[in-house]
Amino acid sequence: MAKYYINADRRLSKINKEIYGQFSEHLGRCIYEGIYVGEDSEIPNVNGMRKDVVEALKEIHVPVLRWPGGCFADEYHWKDGIGPKEERKKMINTHWGGVLEDNSFGTHEFMELCRQLGCETYVNGNLGSGTVQEMSEWVEYMTFDGLSPMTQLRARNGHPEPWKVDFFGVGNENWGCGGNMTPEFYANEYRRYQTYVRQYGAGEGEPGIDNPTLIRKIASGPNIDDTDWTHGVLATLFRHCENRFHGHTDGLSLHYYTHPEGWEIKGSATEFDEKTWYKTLAKTLYMEDLIRMHGAIMDQYDPERKIGLIVDEWGTWFTVEPGTNPGFLYQQNTMRDALVACINLNIFNKHSDRVKMACIAQMVNVLQAMILTDGPRMVKTPTWHVFDLYQLHQDACLLESFIETEEIGMEEEYMVPNLSESASVDEKGKITITIGNLSVTEDYPVMTRITGIGDRNKVSARILHNRMDACNTFDEPDQVSSEVFEGVRLVHGGLEFTIPRCSVLLITLE
Ligand code: AHR
Repeated sequence: MAKYYINADRRLSKINKEIYGQFSEHLGRCIYEGIYVGEDSEIPNVNGMRKDVVEALKEIHVPVLRWPGGCFADEYHWKDGIGPKEERKKMINTHWGGVLEDNSFGTHEFMELCRQLGCETYVNGNLGSGTVQEMSEWVEYMTFDGLSPMTQLRARNGHPEPWKVDFFGVGNENWGCGGNMTPEFYANEYRRYQTYVRQYGAGEGEPGIDNPTLIRKIASGPNIDDTDWTHGVLATLFRHCENRFHGHTDGLSLHYYTHPEGWEIKGSATEFDEKTWYKTLAKTLYMEDLIRMHGAIMDQYDPERKIGLIVDEWGTWFTVEPGTNPGFLYQQNTMRDALVACINLNIFNKHSDRVKMACIAQMVNVLQAMILTDGPRMVKTPTWHVFDLYQLHQDACLLESFIETEEIGMEEEYMVPNLSESASVDEKGKITITIGNLSVTEDYPVMTRITGIGDRNKVSARILHNRMDACNTFDEPDQVSSEVFEGVRLVHGGLEFTIPRCSVLLITLE
């Protein structure tokens, strides 16, 4: 019997809703086909955005959307994507599949998509191949409310009102596809570029990742365990800045993908054995080490934690589906992806004192997607279902919790704990508990003791449970789907239940 302790009297950090963020790049069929089909398409759409996809994304309450990349961001010139569509510059997306980019989805379309989703905007600027002036003018075009050449241009293009940019990335992966820079060179460039990312709105209070009245600026952070980058960037950002501006930044990104067989081989998304299952989950759990590792360096410079660690690319990265363009990164999604999402989201919740935003890669048809499309057809993936179960954590308060686990697995190097959990309480006092069972073969009885349970006596639960390689296909779209779970009993001071193998369980208590 696993013992699970939750202290409802000990509220820790706020779980920013942005931890449940998404990422959409001009890559493969993410934007084009997956989201944007154009107004003349036979696929039902509103202003060119697929109705079915937008509806499905609204169900999981996408809080924030990052765009246009990724590596694409440092090759993107925003003026190519405004004005009459037929006049927009066409180009080859050399980075992703060598296909034609007609720029029919640009700034106005992104803002329209966010309007339909009701989400915040995270725009990633081009530091790698763009100019300071170009970045500065983009921010002016999007957010300035006065009279200027950029606002006149915006008005001529049909949008006199400014938009709100909530987060702005100053470059992406500048250690690699964003210009192959050294940390010191990037940080100096960052300081210069961000100076001209003006705060045009009134803005109130101190800069910092949690101040929504300002554009929060995100610096390009480390790849995986590159602590040299984190040290180098922060040291340069904090030189001669008197700490007043928190190193000129509100966030530092971290990118970490789960590749079960390593970067070169990756492995199939759907055909894998139990050993690979545990290897995948063990590699996913490394996310917690990375957060601790980079978080400790951030603590040296920013002990008050005004700068967020922004995990704006995470998820599984497998070999593409047979027969598809290798540059499109299209992969299926199984219960294994569901457990990867469950583990990562529980880790982000537990570290929400430092992790202030996370964007899974990517929202539709690319890598660990929420949604897959095929012409007019659409399926919600197992990962969509995890985001659906976890949405009650958004903006709730993390609770102190601890679960006794045992090590399971098939290879010494890739042992994992059998269970992963996190718990939160919302402003009405409702407790949300999310638990994953990482075992392919074993069900586990769990006895939960909740300190400060008070008079809460209404329990409900939903579960996502299936065989390890189960997935949703266009012919069978509902094979993996969450359902009501009746197995949770309220006992004096807590809960008892048996969590089935290979499952993600949501319990609420009010
Ligand atoms: O998400 C796919 C790519 O992975 C992004 O473009 C890049 O930032 C990362 O290497």
